[in-house]
Amino acid sequence: MQYRYFTKDKLKVSLLGFGCMRFPIIDEDSGKINEAEATEMLHFAIDNGINYVDTAYGYHQGNSETFVGKALKNGYREKVYLATKLPVWLADSYEDFENLLDQQLKRLDTDYIDFYLLHSLHKKTWDKIVKLGIFKFLEDARDKGKIKYIGFSFHDEFPVFKEILDSYPWDFCQIQLNYMDRQYQAGIDGAKYAAEKDISLVIMEPIKGGKLANSPVDIQKVWDTSHIKRTPAEWALKWVYDFPEVSVVLSGMSTIEQVKENIELTNNSLPNSLTKEEHRIIDKVTSIYSEKIKVGCTSCEYCLPCPQGVAIPDIFSLYNNYYVYDTKEQSTSSYLKLIKDDKDASRCIECGECEQLCPQHLEIISYLKDGNQALSK
Ligand SMILES: NC(=O)c1ccc[n+]([C@@H]2O[C@H](COP(=O)([O-])OP(=O)(O)OC[C@H]3O[C@@H](n4cnc5c(N)ncnc54)[C@H](OP(=O)(O)O)[C@@H]3O)[C@@H](O)[C@H]2O)c1
Repeated sequence: MQYRYFTKDKLKVSLLGFGCMRFPIIDEDSGKINEAEATEMLHFAIDNGINYVDTAYGYHQGNSETFVGKALKNGYREKVYLATKLPVWLADSYEDFENLLDQQLKRLDTDYIDFYLLHSLHKKTWDKIVKLGIFKFLEDARDKGKIKYIGFSFHDEFPVFKEILDSYPWDFCQIQLNYMDRQYQAGIDGAKYAAEKDISLVIMEPIKGGKLANSPVDIQKVWDTSHIKRTPAEWALKWVYDFPEVSVVLSGMSTIEQVKENIELTNNSLPNSLTKEEHRIIDKVTSIYSEKIKVGCTSCEYCLPCPQGVAIPDIFSLYNNYYVYDTKEQSTSSYLKLIKDDKDASRCIECGECEQLCPQHLEIISYLKDGNQALSK
């Protein structure tokens, strides 16, 4: 296992972190973790050098924290740095912050959380929690020993990331980064900016939630031009590992084989170790995938709430995935759920409110029609 420094205290964290959002489940119900298999996976990971475990209040329908608390019994808790996240969208008062943290400590069955993150910040939630006194709450919790290091995870555009990063002396932050999301949300600029400010960096979705693990024929042909044989997942992880700014890369592994494979491939992943040729191959794959993107939506959500309840960014994400990553079945069945929830594109009455708010100046109305046509097939 490779280790990199983390926070100004230079803690040694494993480059590969365990994301506790995609454990094996029973009956296709994400709330029912297959505890026997998941425990085996987590123990194997820790026994083989992983020392960063990342969960959150909401993962697995609220059951991830409780499961992790159980799985880290018998000495495993002491072997890892435990990260979890405050569900800021559930907090409407200062007392809510306190109650949620206490509930999380109880679920995790631990006296302290090593790395505490404000979960999934974007402009609206950020403005809300600042008004509710989030800084005082975090420092109070740290003074009481309930949390050790303070960070946040992020889902908005780069200017908002910069604003949040500049607002507080954070220990660390967590952003989405993979070779397809170089300029998405915080992106590479965000990674560099955090490093400039000496704020440690955790990466999520390095394989784009699994979408980069299965290459269609045209992409596989490009990988095959390399004399180094790697799986698509390995190419994706290696690309993120190559950034010296990155301390931890979280992967939400869902089988023991993935745990073994990812540990193995992390072993010799030093920063700046990919050759020019390897970068050229990955860049080529990025450009082939990118040509298939239908809508340049960044999911900033500035278009929301739609007066008709249309889930605009979700629809564009399904529409793009359908064509780019060939997720036809998955995209159409997720769209069916939006139809059932009255959030699909057919609800659009073309009022145009969203188009005035979109920072990318997308022709949302027209794209919604196209998306609806493709996804309703
Ligand atoms: N803070 C936030 O807002 C936020 C948001 C997202 C994620 N996260 C955290 O970040 C973690 C990482 O994100 P992620 O789970 O999306 O990571 P990811 O590594 O991009 O995706 C995980 C998926 O990739 C596939 N995979 C992993 N290793 C593989 C291998 N060796 N071979 C083939 N496929 C492989 C699996 O897909 P299959 O299951 O389809 O096989 C797995 O479920 C999460 O688990 C969570 O802890 C945080």
